[in-house]
Amino acid sequence: MADILKPTDENLRNLREFLRLGGLLAVPTETVYGLAANALDAKACEKIFEAKKRPSNDPLICHVASYEALESFCEPNDVSKTLADAFWPGPLTFVLPKKDTIPGIVTAGLDSVAVRSPNHPVFRKLIEGCDFPLAAPSANPFAYISPTQAIHVQANLGDQIEYILDGGPCEHGLESTIVDLRDPAYPEILRYGALPVELIENAVKRRLLRPTRNSDHAGVSIAPGSLPKHYSPRTPLDLRPNAVSESELVESDQKTAYLLLRKPVNARANNIHWLSENGELEAIASSLFAKLRELDNAGYQKIIAEEAPELGLGLAINDRLRRASFR
Ligand code: TXA
Ligand code: MG
Repeated sequence: MADILKPTDENLRNLREFLRLGGLLAVPTETVYGLAANALDAKACEKIFEAKKRPSNDPLICHVASYEALESFCEPNDVSKTLADAFWPGPLTFVLPKKDTIPGIVTAGLDSVAVRSPNHPVFRKLIEGCDFPLAAPSANPFAYISPTQAIHVQANLGDQIEYILDGGPCEHGLESTIVDLRDPAYPEILRYGALPVELIENAVKRRLLRPTRNSDHAGVSIAPGSLPKHYSPRTPLDLRPNAVSESELVESDQKTAYLLLRKPVNARANNIHWLSENGELEAIASSLFAKLRELDNAGYQKIIAEEAPELGLGLAINDRLRRASFR
């Protein structure tokens, strides 16, 4: 079992030193919990891949305290500056050309690197005292549901790591949005995430290339590691493009869990679950992974979930649900 540590000044001081010396640490961010190591230390980063059983061709995101901190390891441009001014610190990741300071293991040998500056207060306090970036993927075993609470990390990786820094439940509950800025003339969304693409498009005053449903489901990687099957419960999950009818809920058997977007008016059997009171996308996003875990551990034979509307955060919610349902 890992020690779950409160973010006291003393703990943060010790954990920075632990990271500097090559340790692995689960950290809270505003999106999901991450599994962090010193991004300049190839050996430390190797441990991330081992603990998660993550294939080495799936690159890591480097986390920084400020925009200035990224110049030591990648090549920013006008668009990254505009977007950082608008959204950093926050749930937006840039892919930019990399410099040699970042070891190849972090970027899976690519000549680009993913970078973001999280806005979780505990994460910020930790990283502001570090003189190195933190490489951190989500702190889940490869392809399982991402953790949004310290106890989720404990449940899946507790015997692989020594410490989990507790920052409470994650605000957004979905990973960051990733935008490829290698060519600033053609920014491209690589992963839908907690920052709605429409806001990014407003900030850069143009429409961006977006991942298509078909390309990722045909198994063609839009971003390395962006696999069709991901975020998956062990329990088979079926996805419904429309709201489940009340009669289906009433007639449903207890072995099937229903995961609805909003609280139903009538049906209230124990197998009926919901992600929000009235269909608010923020609430749905922030409770999605925790609810999927809960249902996965409850012994159901099947989960039937409803798709969200295809806009704003709904794009990221549906992306996660589709990958969770992929068989
Ligand atoms: O919100 C988040 O982004 C969380 C928290 C911990 O920051 N992190 C996260 O990391 O979701 P991870 O490893 O689960 O997903 C990172 C994804 C990779 O799977 C890959 O698709 C993409 O980022 N990526 C990383 N480096 C890349 C690169 N150089 N080019 C293209 N895609 C890259
Ligand atoms: Mg992940």
